Amino acid sequence: MYTLGEFIIKNRDNFLYSIESLLRLFSSIKLASKAIHKEVNKVGLTEELIGSSGITNIQGENQQKLDNFAHKAFIESFKSRNVVCGIASEESEDFIVIKEKKENFYQNQYIVLIDPLDGSSNIDVNVSIGTIFSVYLRKSSVKMDLTISDFLQKGKKQILAGYIIYGSSTILVFTIGKGVHGFTLDPSVGTFYLSHPNLHFPKVGSIYSINHGNYANFSSEIKKFIRYCQEKKENRPYTARYIGSLVGDFHRNMIKGGIYIYPKTDSSPNGKLRLLYECNPIAFLTEQAGGKASDGENRILDIKPIKLHQRTPFVCGSVEMVSKFEEFIANYK
Ligand code: AHG
Ligand code: MN
Ligand code: MN
Repeated sequence: MYTLGEFIIKNRDNFLYSIESLLRLFSSIKLASKAIHKEVNKVGLTEELIGSSGITNIQGENQQKLDNFAHKAFIESFKSRNVVCGIASEESEDFIVIKEKKENFYQNQYIVLIDPLDGSSNIDVNVSIGTIFSVYLRKSSVKMDLTISDFLQKGKKQILAGYIIYGSSTILVFTIGKGVHGFTLDPSVGTFYLSHPNLHFPKVGSIYSINHGNYANFSSEIKKFIRYCQEKKENRPYTARYIGSLVGDFHRNMIKGGIYIYPKTDSSPNGKLRLLYECNPIAFLTEQAGGKASDGENRILDIKPIKLHQRTPFVCGSVEMVSKFEEFIANYK
């Protein structure tokens, strides 16, 4: 059974950049996710990480204590490894610059965008939550200051993306553009082991995931697609499954086959999910797992971002199901 480190070294030729930098990136990700795993498994024992931190984040959303803990855990972990020069997080309005340490002979050339804790509404009720991350090479010269354009790169430029799901077990799933692989944490050893090699979306699935509570605010083409999912025809009706943690809903649909939709609504014309640290990494994983991800009309990975916390309508999943959804959008507009 391979550990994550062994797997990376064995597959070093699949990474176009320095293998040492990839190991450093993963070293940061593993450490922070293990710290979060440890806290997640204690939620409820003390008041320390349950409930709101009393802060409203840049999204206008109530920040939970664990959102803040996870944000800090990742920032600290990236800071100490001399590989990342800038981080944009859901929990921080502006990007964070990481200064290179003086004694460092190594150049920090990676940009990280992160949703430190995805599915915040599920923390206090013991339902799966996650972390989503996305990594790029910086565009500007290492001699210059970082600029916002280092962060506003198209999703297709990602060199690494993934998530950690803190569920019945803690699993780290990632892609470097050569398939999608999952590693389960053995908490007794503190090590991630390869458990889900070559994850792949079934072509057609039988699950649709959408927040039905927003039905009255959906446009007519979305309502028609929902009725299509519920119709008694061919391999339908599909079954409805919606956790409210993108990571959890995505992980299940990738394994079982399905479609996840967070469309625009009357009150949120751009949908809810954030392009840079939710949709782009999940879209990269989707495509690498043989699925399809779009905003209903355009491929997510081709969208040119214009701001850090930009939102977009989002649909991802098994190819045939997403293509059918896009047909509905095109035909009923
Ligand atoms: P976050 O906890 O990082 O703010 O993300 C929550 C997101 C996503 O994980 C989930 O799919 C979606 O919000 C759920 O939203 P609704 O409650 O509106 O369905
Ligand atoms: Mn999220
Ligand atoms: Mn979050």
